[in-house]
Amino acid sequence: MTFQITVQPSGHQFSCEADETVLAAAIRAGVGLPYGCKNGACGSCKGKIVAGTVEHKAHQQRALTPEEEAAGSSLFCCAIPQADLVIEAREVAGSSDFPIRKMPSRVSAIDRVAPDVVVLTLQLPATERLQYRAGQYIEFMLRDGKRRSYSMANAPEVDGPLTLHIRHMAGGLFTEQVFGTMKERDILRFEGPMGTFFLREDSDKPIVLLASGTGFAPIKAIVEHMIALKSTRPMTLYWGGRRPQDLYMDALCRQWEQSLPNFRYVPVVSAPLDEDGWQGRGGFVHRAVVDDLPDLSGYQVYACGAPIVVDSAKRDFVQLCKLPEQEFYADAFTTEADLAK
Ligand code: FES
Repeated sequence: MTFQITVQPSGHQFSCEADETVLAAAIRAGVGLPYGCKNGACGSCKGKIVAGTVEHKAHQQRALTPEEEAAGSSLFCCAIPQADLVIEAREVAGSSDFPIRKMPSRVSAIDRVAPDVVVLTLQLPATERLQYRAGQYIEFMLRDGKRRSYSMANAPEVDGPLTLHIRHMAGGLFTEQVFGTMKERDILRFEGPMGTFFLREDSDKPIVLLASGTGFAPIKAIVEHMIALKSTRPMTLYWGGRRPQDLYMDALCRQWEQSLPNFRYVPVVSAPLDEDGWQGRGGFVHRAVVDDLPDLSGYQVYACGAPIVVDSAKRDFVQLCKLPEQEFYADAFTTEADLAK
């Protein structure tokens, strides 16, 4: 049995199998609904049910509250249609430009750049190239059907291996492997590119880039992409960590600031130890933006990192700094704990 889904206001239509989520069917049909985690954690896929009914699979309350659900909101990555649907969703131009493919890759380097962060370099088969937008991610396909997502940290213009930034999570299914038994020449299968977190190139608004921890990875890809485009859009990067060592590519950011007239860099450290000798900005990284840029009404913001950082940033930027809500683009991490829920 299949159901017909109609998207408003675009009028795009696609069919959805009875046991399929609305988002999975949209991706299959090349309809660009926004999404991030695909498992009910980030809220990026939230839209409205205008007509018809859905059942929601397990999801996090902060992504869709019972009140929102009762008022007709839906998380399309968890929504199984029970009838033909009319939905309301903002579509993302360009999100389905590049085909989602399954590919093998070979680990060509595992470089420890901080006590709990490695840069994993993946070589693709010689005849293959992965086309993606800066900011998108791939999903590793693990043995037992589980998947883990990581953003590409290099710009798509750079032909060559993919690089990913991986933070160690104690007990994490994949990261224990990366930090433990993984070695060069291991084969990893992945599917991608995925996600609708990428630079909107049809705007010339100044940009705030906000990263916490390894949320820097897709932000780095976006900056490198803008460098490749020779873009002159002003951009300010706020990168936050608990200690200075969490800003594991601080030197690269300082180099960008030296060489790019349109780029500013503000490192923010929330819990330095005495031995760190930190002299720079402190507190929460998103609060540094609020303090520096009380009027964000003419900006775009690209944020990636821990859900608490992304959620707080969106709330404060919209409520306190007049950022138009639709100009906040985000990719919140899904942690191993989220996936276990
Ligand atoms: S909650 Fe649906 S994509 Fe993240």
